[in-house]
Amino acid sequence: MNRPLAKLLGKGKERARLRHHHFIAAWIRSPLKIGAFLPSSRALARAMVEEVDIALPGAIIELGAGTGAVTQALLQAGIPPERLVIIERDEKLHALVHRHFPQLNVLCADAADMETVLAGAGVRKVSAIVSSLPLLSMPKPVRTAIECQMALLIGEEGLIVQFTYGPRSPISRQQMRRHRLHGKRMKLVVTNVPPAHVWVYRRG
Ligand SMILES: C[S@@+](CC[C@H](N)C(=O)[O-])C[C@H]1O[C@@H](n2cnc3c(N)ncnc32)[C@H](O)[C@@H]1O
Repeated sequence: MNRPLAKLLGKGKERARLRHHHFIAAWIRSPLKIGAFLPSSRALARAMVEEVDIALPGAIIELGAGTGAVTQALLQAGIPPERLVIIERDEKLHALVHRHFPQLNVLCADAADMETVLAGAGVRKVSAIVSSLPLLSMPKPVRTAIECQMALLIGEEGLIVQFTYGPRSPISRQQMRRHRLHGKRMKLVVTNVPPAHVWVYRRG
């Protein structure tokens, strides 16, 4: 790894300790909005990022960055920082990710407003959305609004990567039919706490 990138990614153990501290504090503040009691493991972050086709042109959007585990994996996969747009709603977690990755476009915003927010950030084409959002614990209208916007933003060629802890598709069957999305459970990451499934959605 080159030196500037190593510096950008921070020092491993110290960063992981801080990440856990901030994440647990956010979970105590509002458990349902955070949706997990521990940050995503490196194995889960890597498993999600492996599904992204870097060769496909367009922006890569991360939703629900939390403490930045997936953000870090996106950078480590070699995605140029200027192609990434990160959205995190929690102000403290947003500040943490912004501080760790100063050259990334990290927006403090609600994913339910993502079309407007991304248009404001100059994003025209999206090749992938990598989401850690707790879709299944959201009120149904919010979840539907987010699923619709994700489906529209990826166009005909892009994809959505989403993890979930349960066996069911985290994007509802109804929205999949409505937007002609084909969903596939790609991996189960057993070392994550709790174990997590990685789903990928494309136009079928
Ligand atoms: C399961 S956690 C993400 C874990 C993250 N991958 C990590 O390792 O820290 C879900 C994240 O989604 C964020 N989130 C939840 N609802 C959101 C929304 N409507 N818009 C943006 N972010 C949201 C939460 O604040 C939380 O940081």
